[in-house]
Amino acid sequence: MRLLAVESSCDESSVAVIKDRSIESICTKTQAIHAAYGGVVPELAGRSHLELLSELAEQAMEQASITPRELDGIAVTRGPGLVGSLLVGLNFARGLAHGWGLPFQTIHHIEAHLWSPEIEHSELPLPFLCLLVSGGHTQLVHVTGVRQYQIIGQTLDDAVGEAYDKVGKMLGLTFPAGADMDKLAKNGDASAFPLPTPLNDSSCDFSFSGLKTAVLYRMRDRASGPAVRADDIAASFQQAAVGALIAKCEHALALVPAAALACAGGVAANSLLRSRLEDLAAARGIPCLTAKIKYCADNAAMIGYLACKLRAAGVFENDDRVLPRWPLTDLASLQTTLV
Ligand code: KG4
Ligand code: ZN
Repeated sequence: MRLLAVESSCDESSVAVIKDRSIESICTKTQAIHAAYGGVVPELAGRSHLELLSELAEQAMEQASITPRELDGIAVTRGPGLVGSLLVGLNFARGLAHGWGLPFQTIHHIEAHLWSPEIEHSELPLPFLCLLVSGGHTQLVHVTGVRQYQIIGQTLDDAVGEAYDKVGKMLGLTFPAGADMDKLAKNGDASAFPLPTPLNDSSCDFSFSGLKTAVLYRMRDRASGPAVRADDIAASFQQAAVGALIAKCEHALALVPAAALACAGGVAANSLLRSRLEDLAAARGIPCLTAKIKYCADNAAMIGYLACKLRAAGVFENDDRVLPRWPLTDLASLQTTLV
């Protein structure tokens, strides 16, 4: 099955051509316009998607060297995300599907992240535990099959990516700051700027808002003393944030059976998180299957991959109303049609 997939839920405009597990082309543009505002401006994001999507689709078709006749459908993100951005992507994809006479399929963005470790890898063994970490989500999901998801834990306030971005801003880094914080942390000494481990309890939930505030207060306290190095702050924040993610994965693995530990979403690209997850999985004797770095951040490949996987499982949805808020657990109640 070969699909053209479109992703536009936030500030990445992305179009891919995917044939089952293999990516034939992917064209993504991260909208740089938001950096000047220190965060995503919804109106600007919607307008940029409008300007970018047709060009990206043309490029993706050209790079895959195919014509519309060789496609079996168009897949697009329906939610969750920014309403204006979702509307632009969904209407663009629906127009293409209508014009080319192809089936039009809508996809849940977080469910696509969840299965993204399978792209260009083998299938994940069931059941597995997936740590979903992005700019908007931090969740531990126990997966026993397609559409069989149980949320084991989630953030009570900020998502971990959001905390990375906010602390990065305090350090004068450009939005989104996660990747630069990761680089900075490599040269820093975490013990030079000690921070508390957030929500250090026996639950599987997360909290990153207090950690972010602790960085702010400690930077203020130390403002009058000897200069604090930005790389030490980044290293300390990273140690505390990743430490919390790993501790909660450990708690969850003690609660539910898991044949693998998976990780996906923008923050899954983090170097310390990837190596600590590897160690944790190795200690348990299970594989650690993290999404390839290029499929961690928002991208259309994961949308196309999940669309192919769902269609192979006989699940096909094409409701054209966008859902800006859409908990993963609501998927179970969707009307599905066997194709
Ligand atoms: O999944 P994603 O592309 O978009 C959302 O759905 O939110 O995730 C973006 C988030 C941003 O907060 C960004 O700073 C963070 O992922 N991020 C990282 C790294 N690369 C991206 N955070 C920590 N370390 C990284 N290497
Ligand atoms: Zn995402």
